[in-house]
Amino acid sequence: MTARKLGLSAGAKHASPLARSRQIAARRALIVPIWRSPGRWHCAPACILLHPPTVDLRNRYTLITGASSGLGREMARIIARRHGGHLVVAARRRDRLEELTRELRDETGVDVVPLEVDLTSPEQIESFFERATSQRTIDAVVLNAGVTYFGHAVEQSLASIQSMLATNVMSAAHLATRFGKHFIAKGQKAHMLLVSSMASLAPMPYQALYGGTKAFLTNYGQALRYELSRHGIKVGVFLPGGIVTEMTELSGISKIHGSGDVGMMEASVCARFAVDALRRGSAMSIPGASNHIMAAAMHLPKALVIPFVERLYRAGVDKK
Ligand SMILES: NC(=O)c1ccc[n+]([C@@H]2O[C@H](COP(=O)([O-])OP(=O)(O)OC[C@H]3O[C@@H](n4cnc5c(N)ncnc54)[C@H](OP(=O)(O)O)[C@@H]3O)[C@@H](O)[C@H]2O)c1
Repeated sequence: MTARKLGLSAGAKHASPLARSRQIAARRALIVPIWRSPGRWHCAPACILLHPPTVDLRNRYTLITGASSGLGREMARIIARRHGGHLVVAARRRDRLEELTRELRDETGVDVVPLEVDLTSPEQIESFFERATSQRTIDAVVLNAGVTYFGHAVEQSLASIQSMLATNVMSAAHLATRFGKHFIAKGQKAHMLLVSSMASLAPMPYQALYGGTKAFLTNYGQALRYELSRHGIKVGVFLPGGIVTEMTELSGISKIHGSGDVGMMEASVCARFAVDALRRGSAMSIPGASNHIMAAAMHLPKALVIPFVERLYRAGVDKK
């Protein structure tokens, strides 16, 4: 693209390559980050446009856990439709995975491999890892599967506590370790994205355990990034705010925040940010302008933030 087309100054032609690419990026940042989906305007933070993608997903395999619904399923759709990427999609509900596989294979011609796995079982994770990696090269991994509980912490059943810790914490650490070792052994410059949450930024009354599991993921993912970066592996954490999915509907969170409310994102919109974060190998990424404002507010003194969240969420818990 010429300097004139990008509207750069005449002197830009003689600028150093770094200065020139910064000018081009800054120019694009002014053009690209605002778009409209039905009924809403969206604005991407300009900074994501200053970091060009470092992995091309086309004709490469991306593995996504939790791809049978919500954010994971929308990410799979974007990777197949927009980027021509092959997929390994994983979850417990095989029928949902097969439906998605048929949809994406027919529509785009990419290869989609559905793998059924219950991530609360370490044995199943091991066999899942073998099945996923034995016949293909995986270049990107999205550890997205997660469960929540919305209610009084002392009323959460032991089964629910165990299942949440196993899914959100144990399976993510298990798979991140397995894939990390695998990529190092193969000398692969792969990308890994851990789907955490803005709930990881402050203690969350009535989502106490969930917030704790996500705080683990945010912390763990960032530490892992520094350990693996010298092998050329890019680990990132993705911190969405509210997304309109089964999770918010079934847990009762939709009683306080529903579709169309400020701070609630459609899954397909959130997935665009997540796929961008994966392709760019971003260290930590928060989708959308309103979530950025909320994230900044969550860094206020905890004595202000926690009582506010408690009051807001108590209203939702009382409505359940
Ligand atoms: N929704 C929100 O407001 C929100 C906000 C911030 C962060 N997040 C995070 O975003 C991620 C995706 O959530 P979502 O909103 O898209 O929820 P969702 O629609 O409920 O999807 C969750 C996915 O995880 C899978 N999963 C759950 N337990 C599993 C298990 N034991 N083994 C295998 N797969 C399992 C589910 O598949 P099966 O049931 O078929 O197994 C499903 O595909 C989660 O990590 C969540 O914590 C969500």
